[in-house]
Amino acid sequence: MGITILAIESSCDETAASICKDGEILSNVIASQAVHEQYGGVVPELASRAHMQNIVPVVDQALLQAGSKLSDLSAVAFTQAPGLIGSLLVGTQFAKSLSLSLQIPLIAVHHMQAHVLANLIPEQRPSFPFLCLTVSGGHTQIVLAKSAFELEVIGETIDDAAGEAFDKTAKLLGLPYPGGPLIDRYAKLGDPLKFKFAEPQIPELNFSFSGLKTSVLYFLQKQEPGFIEANKNDLCASVQHTIVQILLKKLAKAVQQTQVKQVCIAGGVSANSGLRNGLIEMGQKRGWKTFILDFSYCTDNAAMIAITAYHKFQKGDFASLSVNPSARAEW
Ligand code: KG4
Ligand code: ZN
Repeated sequence: MGITILAIESSCDETAASICKDGEILSNVIASQAVHEQYGGVVPELASRAHMQNIVPVVDQALLQAGSKLSDLSAVAFTQAPGLIGSLLVGTQFAKSLSLSLQIPLIAVHHMQAHVLANLIPEQRPSFPFLCLTVSGGHTQIVLAKSAFELEVIGETIDDAAGEAFDKTAKLLGLPYPGGPLIDRYAKLGDPLKFKFAEPQIPELNFSFSGLKTSVLYFLQKQEPGFIEANKNDLCASVQHTIVQILLKKLAKAVQQTQVKQVCIAGGVSANSGLRNGLIEMGQKRGWKTFILDFSYCTDNAAMIAITAYHKFQKGDFASLSVNPSARAEW
């Protein structure tokens, strides 16, 4: 009969649902919320309302694309933490109701564990142990994955996340939110070495990105009007190059320290072409086995929740109906 799981992700501004059968992703549906663009960032109240509107059609679509019915489901999974509490509540409540009405187990998933385990979705996947650089709008971590349930954070940011560094510098360049993908697009046409921005000297495997934003701001303040428009591609390429270098240097240090040479990336920033190409190049030079995720599994998605839930199902790790979402949660 097999194990069929419906997974729901609603931690931030994407409403997503996925069906996974015996570890294979049958559907991965995402409804992005355009409403936040005009505000230059995610507005929590609007995000919750949009989740309420989107969740039923997104789940219906996920079932339809997978050719599955509610009666086929062995369990329902949801993102429990971390995220915006009002957003998390929508997915949690929906999953709990479905679990109760269908009388099937409920599985609570940690969003950051799921970003790492998204690397287990493709056929060409790493074996344990592997290293994962998880870079998103809220997190920047180097994780040593010894098993699906033994994930050790061996380095992280002490201030802004890499995604914030992209989005905040994009804002300084007059680009709309989220600026990361736009920097990536303009960077393809620019010279990455045209402008130099200082790289922070942070000990161990930790990161810092708040200085980059300040350094770009001071640099732009010294320029003549019209400078940004005239140099947009080179500015984007140089900012991206700086962020990617900071990330890759720490990853190289992590490989050296752990001697683990299977390296993955995850999270929204792992969709960045500079980071993807940089990692492949570094891997070739240093003899690492690198794994580059499909774009649809990089940014927030429910397939990563589904694959994590599949592993939890096999372990019998179920949640009770009294489980609550949490905005912040350690793992
Ligand atoms: O993982 P994610 O979808 O949501 C969070 O959990 O935060 O990551 C969103 C972040 C945003 O900061 C966005 O600008 C960034 O990922 N991002 C990118 C690219 N695509 C998304 N940053 C740089 N280049 C990209 N291509
Ligand atoms: Zn995320």
